[in-house]
Amino acid sequence: MEYEKIEDIQKKKDSLDALSPYIGKMRPELASWLIKEYAQEGEMVYDPFAGSGTVLLKGWELGHEVIGNDLNDYAYVLAKGKLFPYDSDSAAVGKLDKYNKYVIANVKNFDISGIPQWVKDFYHVDTLKEICCWVKILKYHKEWFLLSCLMGILHHQRPGFLSYPSSHGAPYLRKEKYSREEYPEMYEYRNVYIRLKAKVIRTYKHFPDLNFDLSRDIKKKDATSIRLGNNNISLIITSPPYMKSLTYARDNRLRLWFLGVDDWKGLEKAVSPEKNVFFEEMKKCFRKWYNLQKKGNKCILVVGNMKVSYMGEKSTLPDILANLASRYYSLNRAYTDDIPEKRKVVKGTSLIKQEAILVFERR
Ligand SMILES: C[S@@+](CC[C@H](N)C(=O)[O-])C[C@H]1O[C@@H](n2cnc3c(N)ncnc32)[C@H](O)[C@@H]1O
Repeated sequence: MEYEKIEDIQKKKDSLDALSPYIGKMRPELASWLIKEYAQEGEMVYDPFAGSGTVLLKGWELGHEVIGNDLNDYAYVLAKGKLFPYDSDSAAVGKLDKYNKYVIANVKNFDISGIPQWVKDFYHVDTLKEICCWVKILKYHKEWFLLSCLMGILHHQRPGFLSYPSSHGAPYLRKEKYSREEYPEMYEYRNVYIRLKAKVIRTYKHFPDLNFDLSRDIKKKDATSIRLGNNNISLIITSPPYMKSLTYARDNRLRLWFLGVDDWKGLEKAVSPEKNVFFEEMKKCFRKWYNLQKKGNKCILVVGNMKVSYMGEKSTLPDILANLASRYYSLNRAYTDDIPEKRKVVKGTSLIKQEAILVFERR
């Protein structure tokens, strides 16, 4: 496959995009570049493996109607939070103040006896009770934006976060590096309302220009079987979950637990498929997308540029995908994009150093 190189794309600060971490997140500037390059004015953009909603948010920011989908409950909440924020920090803080009254009234009697020990290990008991009350009220009122803000401060050792010392991406305690004896302040109670309010305000610091009249939607369905009705989807941009290279449920297990997913291992099977399952899923997707799109419409995949053997032959992931798609889509262009050092993914022992961007055209 012949690749064109993507040159440096300018980064733009966007605190809504940085609402909460997500592994395997697409570079936001790459998503914006692809949309500018391939979406015509007024066209709807669809991301069937939306993750944290990067493509959807960038599509919306660039004036497009957007629709997305992801099977992972955390991805669904986070993407929904990005697509349905309050239009000002004062409106968001006003709502927070209202819910805080519920939390204050209910936190003392909140029963945490049924909470698994691995979750308790991350928090001071009073912080944990407050988090549970906040999650309960925000979920009940479908406050996806405020809930996403809470997910964004759930674990990390910095003072603005809620857990004992722990990494921000995947939840691992850092009790050895930051022992209770040496850093007692890191193990103290952390008031949730104060930190949540600060997080909400931070989110409006570099807030994008948004047209709240544009339609946007995110669903929590399997991409291979989702029904999208009569939507006119002219452009698909997506980054599928290729071959277990990332563990979307395990790395989000603490956030998922608060969102009501006890069995993250079960979810993992569905969202981080094995190689052969992944290729079967992609075949179904290409057929589905073919039926959704019109001749000449574009479908863009962003995947790791890695070597793979399939059906007894050595090949590369982009080549296999182009082959699987060929009945429905022709490959129009292919780009490569270097993955910055800190975002490289360990797959077996080798690092995935480059992403391939495959631009398909519907036959
Ligand atoms: C590479 S990530 C997408 C990241 C996204 N572009 C972003 O910027 O955050 C792939 C996503 O596919 C989701 N996924 C995996 N299998 C799925 C399926 N069968 N249906 C829907 N979503 C699925 C995973 O939960 C994961 O969020």
